[in-house]
Amino acid sequence: IPVDPFDLVIFGATGDLATRKILPGLYRRDLAGQLPEAARIIGAARSEFDDGAWRSEVRAAITEHVPADRVHAAALDRFMARLSYVRVDATGEDGWQELAQKMRPGMVHAFYFSVGPGLFGDLAHRLHRHGMNSDGCRIVVEKPFGHDLASARALNATLAAHFDEQQIYRIDHYLGKETVQNLMAVRFGNMLFEPLWNAQYVDHIQITVAEAVGVAGRGGYYDKSGAMRDMVQNHMMQLLCLIAMEPPYAFEPDAVRDEKLKVIRALDPVAPADIVRGQYGAGNGHASYVDDVDNPKSFTESYIALKAHVSSWRWKGTPFYLRTGKRLRARTSEIAITFKDPPHSIFGEQEGQRSNALVIRLQPNEGIKLKVTIKEPGPGGMRLIEVPLDMSFAEALGPGAEDIPDAYERLIMDVIRGNQTLFMRGDEVEAAWAWTDPIVAAWQARGDRPQPYDPGSSGPEDALMLMHRDGRRWREVR
Ligand code: BG6
Repeated sequence: IPVDPFDLVIFGATGDLATRKILPGLYRRDLAGQLPEAARIIGAARSEFDDGAWRSEVRAAITEHVPADRVHAAALDRFMARLSYVRVDATGEDGWQELAQKMRPGMVHAFYFSVGPGLFGDLAHRLHRHGMNSDGCRIVVEKPFGHDLASARALNATLAAHFDEQQIYRIDHYLGKETVQNLMAVRFGNMLFEPLWNAQYVDHIQITVAEAVGVAGRGGYYDKSGAMRDMVQNHMMQLLCLIAMEPPYAFEPDAVRDEKLKVIRALDPVAPADIVRGQYGAGNGHASYVDDVDNPKSFTESYIALKAHVSSWRWKGTPFYLRTGKRLRARTSEIAITFKDPPHSIFGEQEGQRSNALVIRLQPNEGIKLKVTIKEPGPGGMRLIEVPLDMSFAEALGPGAEDIPDAYERLIMDVIRGNQTLFMRGDEVEAAWAWTDPIVAAWQARGDRPQPYDPGSSGPEDALMLMHRDGRRWREVR
């Protein structure tokens, strides 16, 4: 679906996110024919570039971050012609006048704040001062949206001084992932699952976001944040909300976000005994966490596992187990919904009989699997085995699967369309911090030390116990 012609300004245009995700994503949308002829992208940053120098940087970034069979000379040239650069000082006056002159009337105006949250206020204020915060314009802000409730509130207030909530797009890129949206399609587009989607039939839910990479290169940010603030407060929380929320009355921004907010507010405080924190050691040719962040005394967690409860009619009693960490065995993100066993097995106790599970694989190998019990084929009598009903996206969609847009591509197009459904509202972010803050404060008060774990493992030993003591086990990270 084409979008309206736009002027998109990227503040922080020479930074890592812009180079790795935003600009390659926009190129891919252009390649797919989604960008209108008149769409323009304006890079704004402090570096001393002119249009030509920035274009060369972007050309190199696209060549590096887009698969070679998608990089075509003609398409690249067309994309380059959309780009221009303005040297702008976020905290001073340089460049703002020039930027204001570049904004064409009659276009959708969007401003992507691809900079640290410390500059959000400066940018908002100067956009206002130079007359660029027109009614229809939008701003896009990245996580981390604050580092606790107080800072998130302050940020919301700063942005609200110059923009309406309908103009503020808070990105959580997990919401732009194809399978995450498919989760909503599966839940609300089928009759099959919804009647079973509650504490009466669901035994427990596991949400895993495991990464093989460490934190090298981002240590400065990460060491102040840790897995709780970096992943749980936002990405994992959003996944939990999509699983736990009530059906919204429509797939519309406030309808969806109202339901997510109710889930966050219904989360119980987490008992210290229900949380395990870990920190990776050295091994497999990799440095330890403390070396990666260059802080030998760091108590920051690079891994966390916890058991959460949603106190609602639908979920009372069903635990949500969340875990995420760096330097684990493999990169795996998945949500597994394990159903209760049939009340009575007419086949007696059998080895092969397992609980039904719906496994939503976010990455890699995106797809959805439903694990069911069937009879083992052959004359061996009624022997039960577990088989997956499998919908792998690559197989189901064939060659088209490669064209599934990356999360950022989709979300930026949603900004231009003016659709906030997959963006976080201010109150949602605040509610998520309100749940996270006491957990972090308790660690700080106790001087809690994370447990060491081996790189390439599936996390600290105690994380296994978190499940074992409830008679359950984690799915393998692979
Ligand atoms: C980011 C976190 O938001 O998400 C990173 O700051 C993390 O620490 C990343 O690595 C994971 O995103 P993805 O899309 O690679 O799963």
